[in-house]
Amino acid sequence: MSASELPLSATAPRRQIVTLQAHILQQQALHPGASGDFSWILSALSISAKMIASQVRRARLEDVLGGVGNQNVQGEQQQKLDVIANDILLRTLSGREGVAIVASEENEEPVILRDEQTGDRKYCVLFDPLDGSSNLDVCGAVGTIFSILRQDRRSAKQEDSLLQPGTQQVAAGYVLYGSSTVFTLTLGKGVDMFVLDPSIGAFVRVEQQMRIPRANKSYSLNEGNRLTFPEGYQKYLHWAQENGYSSRYAGAMVGDVHRILLQGGVFMYPPTKKAPNGKLRLMYEANPMGMIVEQAGGKALAAPGQRLLDVPPTDIHQRTPVIMGSPDEVDHVIRHLQSG
Ligand code: AHG
Ligand code: MN
Ligand code: MN
Repeated sequence: MSASELPLSATAPRRQIVTLQAHILQQQALHPGASGDFSWILSALSISAKMIASQVRRARLEDVLGGVGNQNVQGEQQQKLDVIANDILLRTLSGREGVAIVASEENEEPVILRDEQTGDRKYCVLFDPLDGSSNLDVCGAVGTIFSILRQDRRSAKQEDSLLQPGTQQVAAGYVLYGSSTVFTLTLGKGVDMFVLDPSIGAFVRVEQQMRIPRANKSYSLNEGNRLTFPEGYQKYLHWAQENGYSSRYAGAMVGDVHRILLQGGVFMYPPTKKAPNGKLRLMYEANPMGMIVEQAGGKALAAPGQRLLDVPPTDIHQRTPVIMGSPDEVDHVIRHLQSG
C-alpha cells in the first residue's frame, strides 16, 4: 500500500505532543538573551505540582489528612497537607538561582532567599500551596495557585518588592488536583493547559491559547452567605434564578474557575458580614486567577469599575471581593451591583 492509499488517520499529523518542559524551552527560545532563570522557576513549579499531586493522592493511605491543630496567618485551620505542600514549594523554589523572595499564604512573613544588590533583577514567587484544603478529607478538588513578579530593586525594603499590582505579573497559573492533575499557565500571551500523564511523569499540553466561553448561565458562589451579601448581589441572584441559571460551587476557587474557563459562567466571592472585604487573598488567589481569566478573554473585577489586576496592594495577605469569568456573565453581575 502506498502512502497515498493509507487511511487519513495514519498519515495526517495529529496534535503534536508537547510537554510542559518543551513548552517552557520553546518560550525561552523566543527571548534569545534570556538567562534561563525564569524557565528554572517554572520547572520548579512543575516538579512541585507532581510532588504535591502524589501526596494528595496518597493522603488517606499515608494518614496525612486532617488539621495540624494550628491556625495560619489568615486565622484558618491549617491542614497537614497545607504544611506539606508549602514545604515542597519552599524547598524546590529555594534551590533556583532566579528566586529572590517567596511569599506564601501559609507564612506570615515572606522568605528572602537572595538579597545581593548587584546583577540582574530576580523574581518573586507568591503562592497558595493548597487551595480548597478543607475539601481534602472528602477527596474533593484542591489546587495550587502561583504568581510570579519581577523583583523591584527600587523598593526600600526587599519585601516591598512583593507589593506590585496584578498587572505586573510576568506569569501566573494554577494546578488542579482533580480526577487528573491539570497545570494551567499564562506567561502574559494567552493561556495553555497541560495534563499530567502519570505513566510517563510529564505534563502534556492539551489546550493552547484557550478562550473562555462568552456566556453560560451558571454562577458559582457560597449561597449560604446570601443574606449578608450587599444588596446588588442579592438582586443578581434573584435575576439569575428567574432566568434559568444553574448553581455550581466546589468550595475551591481553583476547581470552580477551572470549570468556568472550560464551560463558561461566573465565579464570585462577595463581601459578607463575616468577611467585609471578601475572603479571597489578592496576591495568592485573586491576581493569579484573574490574570488567567483575562488572558483567556474573560473579565476579573473586585467591584464595578475596579479591575482586580489594578487593585493597589498594601499588604501581602490582603483580601478582596472577586467577580470573574465569562465577559457577558461578569457584565450581568456588575449591572446588578450598579443598580444595587
Ligand atoms: P484555602 O483553602 O486556600 O484557604 O482557600 C479556600 C478558599 C477558596 O478556594 C474557596 O473558593 C473559598 O475559600 C471557599 O470559602 P467558603 O467555604 O467560605 O465558601
Ligand atoms: Mn485558597
Ligand atoms: Mn490555601
